[in-house]
Amino acid sequence: MSEKKIVYVGMSADLVHPGHMNIIRHASELGELVVGLLTDEAIASYKRIPFMSFEQRRIVIENIKGVSRVIPQSTLDYVPNLEALKPDYVVHGDDWVEGVQKKTRQRVIEALAGWGGKLVEVPYTKGISSTQLQGAAKEIGTTPEIRLKSLSRMLQVKPLLRFIEVHNGLTGLIVENVSVNTEKGVREFDGMWGSSLTDSTAKGKPDIEAVDVSSRISTLNEVLEVTTKPIIYDADTGGQPEHFVFTVKTLERLGISAAIIEDKTGLKKNSLFGTDVEQTQDSIENFCHKIRVGRAARATRDFMIIARIESLILKKGMDDALTRARAYLEAGADGIMIHSKEKTPDEVFAFCKEYNKLPERKPLVVVPSTYNQVREDAFMEHGINVVIYGNQLLRSAYPAMVKTAKMILEHQRSHEASEMMLPIKEILELIPGGK
Ligand code: SPV
Ligand code: MG
Repeated sequence: MSEKKIVYVGMSADLVHPGHMNIIRHASELGELVVGLLTDEAIASYKRIPFMSFEQRRIVIENIKGVSRVIPQSTLDYVPNLEALKPDYVVHGDDWVEGVQKKTRQRVIEALAGWGGKLVEVPYTKGISSTQLQGAAKEIGTTPEIRLKSLSRMLQVKPLLRFIEVHNGLTGLIVENVSVNTEKGVREFDGMWGSSLTDSTAKGKPDIEAVDVSSRISTLNEVLEVTTKPIIYDADTGGQPEHFVFTVKTLERLGISAAIIEDKTGLKKNSLFGTDVEQTQDSIENFCHKIRVGRAARATRDFMIIARIESLILKKGMDDALTRARAYLEAGADGIMIHSKEKTPDEVFAFCKEYNKLPERKPLVVVPSTYNQVREDAFMEHGINVVIYGNQLLRSAYPAMVKTAKMILEHQRSHEASEMMLPIKEILELIPGGK
């Protein structure tokens, strides 16, 4: 009797549906079915992180009739697992002939040719897909706990996270929904930055902690109501440690993932003024105390307190920045943000080089507003974990609004500005549920 054939199926199996069952049934009829379950890292390399962890997904798939064994597939590319297993068949839905997985498919065909294996493509199950289910899940929304934890899950499985500022519900919707298709999959923002600069500016106020915490939280609530992605809150100096306690509790209760506090004291001015204005850096001792008090105020371990170092902004030098990084980590900071207002990334990258050597290293955040020519790949190469686009949505909206206002004044009607504007029908239908 000939030996049983080996059949390989690679899948994410996050939202399992009848399409998956169809593939598993076809595959198990051909022989012993080994499922290569994509790891969280492999999935995050080309789409959103899965809802369920690898272990949860493994439990589901292992218990499905017809599955003989589950092994991890740690890259989108099947070839390493195929070479190790040399299966007689690979089974996949026929939907990968086009799109992101086209190249992956080609590599599977070439690898199988090495030992006479065969690719079997099963017709795609119509009317149901993971994308559709993900859309439905998004509509239901999320819970504070799931949202809060999603930042640390992302940090575990993605080398670099991309955040951008929000200052109201509408900007939240933009960050939630805007994506571009690339050769490597769908690219989108991982989460939102509750910027003090743009929240204050949108309210017509300077960025000096004049917009009080209740008002800042009210902006966050607008955003929370219409989005599901994680939020990092710009907590400015955090205020008095006794006040920061309440901010931490409120943010955690709402499902915000992290607060970043900057090591300044007294009247805070925006960092991008640098030394043009008077700004005072807090002492290491005081700031470490604030970190400790903030950490102690948390109800769970999930909420992150990230310490922002202003030494480079205030021209205090690299040694000061590194001494502070070590002290803040020692005090329990869950991450470090290094800020700079230089036109080049040199000082930030010099900081990274030393920071990455620290044994107690935690995630590193940057806000490249001035050194904006640097691409994300370069940040990744320097070990940076989160890049925050701190103010770009508001900075692009403002000139457009001023231009329209001027055109109306010049022409004494709005007709000339029409081309720059969203058509009336589109603005009416922009937010679903208005009709
Ligand atoms: C913000 O966006 O408010 C920030 C970053 O804190 S910066 O404006 O560069 O200080
Ligand atoms: Mg700020």
